[in-house]
Amino acid sequence: MKIESDSVAQAWKALEESIIYYYGHPVGTVAARDPDVEALNYNHCFVRDFVSSALIFLMNGKPDIVRNFLVETLSLQSATKQMDCFNAGQGLMPASFKVVSNYGDQYLTPDFGEHAIARVTPVDSSLWWLILLRTYVKATGDFELAHEPEFQKGIILILKLCLADRFDMFPTMLVPDGSFMIDRRMGVYGHPLEIQALFYGALRSARELLAPSRQGEIYIQFINQRLSTLNYHIRRYYWLDLKRLNEIYRYRGEEFGETAVNKFNIYPDSIPDWLREWMPERGGYLAGNIGPSWMDFRFFAQGNLLAIVYSLASFQESQSIMDLIEKRWDNLIGNMPMKICFPAVEGLEWRILTGCDPKNVPWSYHNGGNWPVLLWPLIASAQKTGRTELAKQAISIAEKRLLEDQWPEYYDGKNGRLIGKEARKYQTWTISGYLVAKELMNNPDHLKIFSFDEDPEVLEESCSQVS
Ligand code: GLC
Repeated sequence: MKIESDSVAQAWKALEESIIYYYGHPVGTVAARDPDVEALNYNHCFVRDFVSSALIFLMNGKPDIVRNFLVETLSLQSATKQMDCFNAGQGLMPASFKVVSNYGDQYLTPDFGEHAIARVTPVDSSLWWLILLRTYVKATGDFELAHEPEFQKGIILILKLCLADRFDMFPTMLVPDGSFMIDRRMGVYGHPLEIQALFYGALRSARELLAPSRQGEIYIQFINQRLSTLNYHIRRYYWLDLKRLNEIYRYRGEEFGETAVNKFNIYPDSIPDWLREWMPERGGYLAGNIGPSWMDFRFFAQGNLLAIVYSLASFQESQSIMDLIEKRWDNLIGNMPMKICFPAVEGLEWRILTGCDPKNVPWSYHNGGNWPVLLWPLIASAQKTGRTELAKQAISIAEKRLLEDQWPEYYDGKNGRLIGKEARKYQTWTISGYLVAKELMNNPDHLKIFSFDEDPEVLEESCSQVS
């Protein structure tokens, strides 16, 4: 009880200290406030990080900061995003921004990736922005904000960027490496699951936010089509359980033409050794990625959890993902919920996939580290699937450490026992993620503001497309 009340009180204090102000108004929260490490860009407000803070503010009747954030980031959307004179696509939202003060003047400087390490493209920012706008509207009923012409323009710019015709055969979104929470090279280019789950959530958000108009109707049609093909594609091709593994294990290769069973030409030998033993009898998950003769068999937590929260995974699949987490608790939860991906890549694979990244060594950081921010999507998924016992256990594990360890960004090791070698302390999304998780336990109704139920129309559509 004592740890619990201290943790909550201290988390709120730290969260309030992380707020950044623009001309006296709260507009966001910094990524981290570690007193002992050089800030680099951790003194920026990251769009993806702010979502955790926004949720807890909205759940506690403090929507102003979220509103200000949405307004200010929208104004940055049309800022120049240049690298070496090349302009990035309109509609892109920055990875992060910061407030710069100069002789009494203040301005916001965005980073669209042109400053970020390795110049990664923040594809997820625009998707998170749409999802957050819908969450804000759900929590406050303030449709007026979303219906303002500037907001409608911003929504459509993002949709244009996402739905543009490209050199691609699949309804999933094609992105470069490191375009989301994993913002370094990790072999997550192509069609990574997390981006697809966010894409699905963003499309469902946009559908609710578009104001009635001719243009709005046209976009709603595009969105509906895309939602059903995306839903079909992910459920059909990304899903993995023992039954599917058996099918893949006995796949024939080199099939040509429409009747091919093994559509992506996945060779059975590419099933990694670890998975043969690791896949439980009951349980399953969505694979990390799919491409030509390529299935990334790693388990990525955020993609799987968001697939549950946004109903990209079916009811049955959602239950199975929770079964897997329960059965492989030591690997996926361990001493700190929860592991960002499992297993780590090692040896030559690590050299090739990460480019020898010393921060992403096996079982550290993005490469198999444990990230406390994942507590909130984990608890949300547990609530949505009625698995509250798992939620309680996960929170009590996190609670044992977070306050004492000063809210680290991530933990290292196979079981997440060590504070990450280069982890920041007082990492804001660790703090707000914990508070969101606690709040969801106290009031499961909050789930409604950021989740989506299964949409039967999407399903009907996708069935009619295959038959
Ligand atoms: C790191 C993480 C990224 C996060 C940022 C700020 O770059 O990889 O996901 O948004 O730190 O916390």
